[in-house]
Amino acid sequence: MMTTTTGFDSSLLSSSSSLEFKFPADRLRRKIYPFKSGGKVIIASSSPSSPTTNMVEISNRNGFMDMYRRRALILGATLPCVLPLLDSTERFGVNAAEVVMDKSLIIREAARKVLSKGKAPGVLRLVFHDAGTFDLNEKSGGMNGSIVYELDRPENAGLKKSLKILEKVKSELDGTEPVSWADMIAVVGAEAVSICGGPLIPVQLGRLDSMVPDPEGKLPQESLDASGLKQCFLRKGFSTQELVALSGAHTLGGKGFGNPTAFDNSYYKILLEKPWISSASMPTMIGLPSDHALAEDEECLRWITKYADDQTKFFEDFKNAYIKLVNSGASWKDA
Ligand code: HEM
Repeated sequence: MMTTTTGFDSSLLSSSSSLEFKFPADRLRRKIYPFKSGGKVIIASSSPSSPTTNMVEISNRNGFMDMYRRRALILGATLPCVLPLLDSTERFGVNAAEVVMDKSLIIREAARKVLSKGKAPGVLRLVFHDAGTFDLNEKSGGMNGSIVYELDRPENAGLKKSLKILEKVKSELDGTEPVSWADMIAVVGAEAVSICGGPLIPVQLGRLDSMVPDPEGKLPQESLDASGLKQCFLRKGFSTQELVALSGAHTLGGKGFGNPTAFDNSYYKILLEKPWISSASMPTMIGLPSDHALAEDEECLRWITKYADDQTKFFEDFKNAYIKLVNSGASWKDA
């Protein structure tokens, strides 16, 4: 058994003796789930890395969530009975694929009980600090729950409390349906975006946890210039556009990009204003050096301008980049 420096019980982690890295996780079986909501057909695809991964049509967001909540409640009550029977679900008229999809909703529902808007920024940051260690060439790191071993690293300062929130939800769920740390972080991160008014992001389940920490020094330093940030993200398989879209996560938190708990495109609007060079505002309070660096780069600036003008485009691109992020380097059950 691994000993950890985090105080976390490593027995909570799913065992995975041999990790197999894939990027993107294109060997995953793709499942399409059509269902009805408010008279409109919604198609949800679980293929994690293609642009068609998205909810194709969500015409009634509230209806969609209400329906999911109802289904999650029913499944939450019946899941302990249903799960042992998964192999014969057809006898009960229950589609196994729907159960997989609904499991992510059960996690979201459980997370909602402990997740507040104020806690959302830390939880979203946790996602990047777990997945962002991915190195495409070295086939190391990625979305594998190894953050639980890495909390004492300087770059992860402040994340212990965010993980504590998830630990509570996870230990409750583990009683009926065990969930890996990697799945847990990916799903609750998406929920954090959603409760702050951002896009709904479908998250595929089935990630296995690593039993060891990832290599150090893989996360970008805030002192990097635009070229350094681009190279760093490229090593993880992300384009400049995806770098800019993902950096929009900094709209949450206290770095001066509008309302700290509203997920919107104010990050880009404020980047365009470059308030840190104006003596009238408090320069050190707004943005990180890496945020400022993006606004100084011509290629990044084109995306910043686009997202400042078009929040819907930002939401769409953020959603796709988030799905790619949480599938980076993941090792999958049943793959
Ligand atoms: C582009 C490279 C990035 C760098 C250099 C960077 C660095 C940082 C730093 C230094 C902080 C401040 C932490 C503190 O207040 O102590 C921060 C906050 C944050 N980061 Fe990043 N980050 C990057 C990208 C990302 C990405 C891709 C995401 C998520 C998709 C993300 C999510 C967040 C969030 C939500 C916060 C606010 C946390 C809070 O206020 O509790 N960051 N980041």
